[in-house]
Amino acid sequence: MDENTVKYLHTQNMKNHRKIYDSKDGHQIKCVHEDGCYSYIGKIVQDFDPNLILELGFSWGGMTKVFEDYTKKGVSIHAYNKKCGRSPDKSLFGKRVEFHWCDLLTKPYEPLVELCKDKRKKLLYCDNGNKIKEVFIYGQHLNVGDMIAAHDYPKEIYHDWDLLIGKTKLRDTRQDVANMNSVLKNFEPVEHDLFLEKGFSDRFWIKVRS
Ligand SMILES: C[S@@+](CC[C@H](N)C(=O)[O-])C[C@H]1O[C@@H](n2cnc3c(N)ncnc32)[C@H](O)[C@@H]1O
Repeated sequence: MDENTVKYLHTQNMKNHRKIYDSKDGHQIKCVHEDGCYSYIGKIVQDFDPNLILELGFSWGGMTKVFEDYTKKGVSIHAYNKKCGRSPDKSLFGKRVEFHWCDLLTKPYEPLVELCKDKRKKLLYCDNGNKIKEVFIYGQHLNVGDMIAAHDYPKEIYHDWDLLIGKTKLRDTRQDVANMNSVLKNFEPVEHDLFLEKGFSDRFWIKVRS
């Protein structure tokens, strides 16, 4: 872990963030990412140009709307969340966005596993509260050329697990981390200029081998 990552880990403070995405059609949707990151994430997704987006954890649908705003009309967006107090206003989304209510972590959710194997070029966006397990359970089924993205990567996913023990609320074991790394070894980080510039790098990986 380099010095900058450590600094990021200890100084990240979301309390002062506005936590709103201003959509291109003028709506304000709750979203839990850092202010200013939406256009960067959107641009990376636009450049990657997927045909299918799978979002794990949608809450109020803020990031789902980013995906809708930054992708072409034919792109399907499936978003998943367990039943909880948060829910998106469906009237703000077009027909190509589908919300699914389900538990993704207790056991693999088979309809999603099948979509991960789909031949279309896809983005798997892991933001479901446990990236370590999500990357393993679902990322292993992706095809060469597909992309995984994980919000909070420096905080929740790090190869040098010992440095994180006691610093996160996660209850993952070393075996969970080893499982995730066994999937990520087939992926390469996407060093997009915008992310390097803004300090959001190391959140996106492309599958390069099966
Ligand atoms: C960080 S929020 C997602 C934020 C959203 N992607 C955004 O950018 O606004 C994580 C979501 O994962 C959901 N979640 C937690 N555990 C889950 C599980 N086992 N299966 C499905 N969803 C889960 C929570 O209900 C919560 O809404």
